[in-house]
Amino acid sequence: MKISVIGVGYLGAVHAAGMAELGHDVVGLDVDARRVRQLEAGRAPFHEPGFDETLRRGLDLGRLRFTTEYEDIAGADVHFLGLGTPQRADGFGADLASLHAAVDALAAVLPARDGSPTLVVGKSTVPAGTARGLAERLERIEGVRLLWNPEFLREGFAVGDTLEPDRVVYGVRDPEAADAEIRMLDTVYAPILDGGTPRLVMGYEAAELVKVSANAFLATKISFINAISELCEATGADVTDVSRALGMDDRIGSRFLRAGVGFGGGCLPKDIRAFIASAEDLGVGQSLGFLREVDAINQRRRVRVVELAREMLGPLRGRRITVLGAAFKPDSDDVRDSPALEVASRLMAAGAHVTVTDPEALKNARGHVEGLVTVEDTAEALRGAELVLLLTEWRRYRDLDPSVAAELVAAPRIIDGRAVLDPRTWRAAGWELRALGRPDAPARAGTQVETAGQPAADEPPAAHEPPA
Ligand code: UDX
Repeated sequence: MKISVIGVGYLGAVHAAGMAELGHDVVGLDVDARRVRQLEAGRAPFHEPGFDETLRRGLDLGRLRFTTEYEDIAGADVHFLGLGTPQRADGFGADLASLHAAVDALAAVLPARDGSPTLVVGKSTVPAGTARGLAERLERIEGVRLLWNPEFLREGFAVGDTLEPDRVVYGVRDPEAADAEIRMLDTVYAPILDGGTPRLVMGYEAAELVKVSANAFLATKISFINAISELCEATGADVTDVSRALGMDDRIGSRFLRAGVGFGGGCLPKDIRAFIASAEDLGVGQSLGFLREVDAINQRRRVRVVELAREMLGPLRGRRITVLGAAFKPDSDDVRDSPALEVASRLMAAGAHVTVTDPEALKNARGHVEGLVTVEDTAEALRGAELVLLLTEWRRYRDLDPSVAAELVAAPRIIDGRAVLDPRTWRAAGWELRALGRPDAPARAGTQVETAGQPAADEPPAAHEPPA
């Protein structure tokens, strides 16, 4: 099928390459000419495992092209909308300007068709009610049908999440009268659906709500365990014990129950805020009042790390602190709303000499924080530090040898902001270790700590957990 993907940011670029991988003839469109040139040249604009290969395969097979011109996509059968919906500069709500601009530009080139419809398929995360408004405009053109098909991909797993999703959701104007458009989207996704992926058809608003409520639920789960983490700090309990035991209840599940410095990234923080704003606009602000608390708990964890640094060093002015990690999570170069970078900025504002290291995200980090000192090499970054902060749990930081690291630093002090290090090993190697949600002293007899640390982000689920 002839497919266009409008907006080739993270979501759109991966979707375009994924659709080419399924065998379609795909054109990706973006108003950013630099990005288009980069993708055309087979260079990934972000770090995403498996994306480079998928992109190049699509280009080499002649199934994938990129353009800045709407005329080039006018003849496609299916147009996916992959535009970003960032947080508005003037408040909590989602900024839909680029989505609306894209729909206007598309509507101007879409030919009227009889016979099989032209599909416009929204993938962006939007407030409920957006699709219905866009459909009013687009469906004035003969033969054009709008579906809302939210995207649930995670950074670091984006290609797999696109080609093997847990489920696909189709939002339509009227589920009883949408056979033609449902069949058409089924054809696009045939290889995925044939593999047994469930496909759910529902109204526009439900489809929009699935996406934002999924993200709100995940954020709530993280803030829940981080709230418990605060109780652990007040009582001397170890949050990794609590989380592990809680997660063994199948009804709760262990994923997204990792305590630490909290969630960041381009989705969860802005999506929960947009969801709050949307509920208020709909006159049901009270329903999502708890999400303000979810956001507040998340922010408090960042502040808590800085407090811990003060407890360990006293006044921070002039102290040498090394931050391990800049990305908002491992296996990503994305620093949007990164807890690690916010903590680094707060320490800098308090007068500390901060050095940040990260395997992939330093270039982006420098663009985000003015005057940030970055060092590529972990050993070099550790040299001379009076305090080390582990804030993004890249495998290389989890696997650090505490004895080797102790030789490099000026004083062996570490804050484990992701609760992934084994406190016993580190303390035995002479480190003063503090961890969010974990006791400062070794566990008392009778509260034997069974876990060295928590599993890292999206590691294969533990044996007790059914596959996701
Ligand atoms: C998220 C959703 O998972 C995805 O479905 C949606 O489409 C986009 O938003 P992503 O932003 O890529 O994906 O990251 P995710 O893996 O969800 O992690 C988000 C943040 O939560 C990270 O900062 C991570 O470190 C943090 N996190 C995650 C925790 O602090 N604890 C956990 O248990 C899990």
